[in-house]
Amino acid sequence: MYKERIRYAPYLDKVMDAEKAADFIKDGMIVGASGFTRAGDPKAVTLALAERAKKEKIKIKFWTGASLSDEVDGGLAEAGALSHRLPFQATRSMRDLINKGEILFTDQHLSLTNEWIRNGVMGPIDIALVEAVTITEDGYIIPTTSVGNTPIFVDQAKKVIIEINMAHTPLLEGVHDIYLPEKRPGREPILLKTPMERIGTPYIKVDPEKVVAIVITDQMDVPSNILPADEETKIMANHIIEFLKEEVNQGRIPNSLMPLQSGVGTIANAVLEGLVHSPFEDLIVASEVLQDAVFELFKAGKVKFAAATSVTLSPSWTKELFENFDQYRDKLVFRPQEISNHPELIRRMGLIAINTALEADIYGNVNSTHVAGTHMMNGIGGSGDFARNAGLSIFVTKSIAKDGKISSIVPMVSHVDHTEHDVQILVTEQGLADLRGLAPRERAELIIEKCVHPMYKDKMREYYNEALERGGHTPHVLEKALSWHQKLRETGTML
Ligand code: COA
Repeated sequence: MYKERIRYAPYLDKVMDAEKAADFIKDGMIVGASGFTRAGDPKAVTLALAERAKKEKIKIKFWTGASLSDEVDGGLAEAGALSHRLPFQATRSMRDLINKGEILFTDQHLSLTNEWIRNGVMGPIDIALVEAVTITEDGYIIPTTSVGNTPIFVDQAKKVIIEINMAHTPLLEGVHDIYLPEKRPGREPILLKTPMERIGTPYIKVDPEKVVAIVITDQMDVPSNILPADEETKIMANHIIEFLKEEVNQGRIPNSLMPLQSGVGTIANAVLEGLVHSPFEDLIVASEVLQDAVFELFKAGKVKFAAATSVTLSPSWTKELFENFDQYRDKLVFRPQEISNHPELIRRMGLIAINTALEADIYGNVNSTHVAGTHMMNGIGGSGDFARNAGLSIFVTKSIAKDGKISSIVPMVSHVDHTEHDVQILVTEQGLADLRGLAPRERAELIIEKCVHPMYKDKMREYYNEALERGGHTPHVLEKALSWHQKLRETGTML
């Protein structure tokens, strides 16, 4: 069966089991793996490596597109197989080891990894470990459910190991659009004017001489575990719909809006899903990950096309999409994350970017990554690529977390991922603050009025009034600016 998926005969001699293929990976190597938010990760060689790491000392630097499944990222982390990890992760056991300092994690804008590899800042890559659905007649790779950083890993690696995953539909061939910008100086513009165009090839080119092993697998991606929309996310979605309707009324954007980007996680997915009940039509998605909400919008006839670097779905949507893939394949394109997240394209296309904050402050600075200022959650992902360059940069968060013990709007964020300059619209279930063109004092008034939970409003006004007495362009009471976080640490609540 698998032989039909390998249309380049010389590779047939390189088929071997995962354990043997994993032997190519040695202690201290840099391994660049396919995979982006669980989609398209190599599922066999990684776990064989984890097993080896339980018996012998082997620690690698492990680079991917974004997070892999808990089984793979968690398996490697728990086996002690990783010294370094980048550019994004979302697995609890890996997070714990990162926060203990046992895995050194580089939290990176997802559009940037390619550039640094291409420039030799982060090289050389010893092994590229790649999941594929098919091999072409020339030995080239048809990726599976994500593209991520795979093309640059394959281009730069000394050796390439390919996992052919029989569980993925061969209909994926033709969905990808692989394009790598040239080395600078002298780079050409990236000639995409809409997400629907194509500029690349449907395969990842590889020098067949570099391919040292082919491993056959038969296992679907681990599905996502995002939670369904709740009352609060529905209210947040409504705030955004009302805001976008007014943008349309003002003639700033058309009724089909601008291409939509939505961040990872439960909240961003639920908010996007809310557009099912909006008056907007003919929507285009230009995102990083396609979560369930995009397909709910397809089903509702709201979305006509979606471009991304990966697709990560719940079990029911995984079944629906891949059992009916022929109905979706001409409405989808998967690109390298360097392209899906490219500042040049995001600015040109005027994306509406909706990303999630862990916390935001009264001036609109956003922390998306660090719990209480020190402990890594997942990483910045592509949120910075999109927020800084979007036509409309929207951040959403529930106004409180952990049953109200935490206010997600704080006097000063305990870590900054997105500065006040990159945050145009801030939304909680309490309301929406349009911060565009406002001075810091105006921003603070609006955020306190619209976004802070009633439990924390008086306390926040008290802080801000005291700050105003001190004066300044951006007033603060510096010795109290992080006192809410300090109180949380000491007493378990900010209240
Ligand atoms: N302080 C501490 N913890 C907080 C918090 C705060 N201010 N706000 C939320 N949390 C906790 C929640 O309680 C929850 O904890 P749990 O896992 O123990 O249940 C966790 O953070 C996740 O929050 P949740 O409300 O479930 O939101 P989510 O699934 O939508 O994830 C982010 C939110 C911020 C973690 C997630 O969107 C993310 O990693 N973003 C950064 C990367 C990014 O934006 N990528 C998109 C680019 S395309």
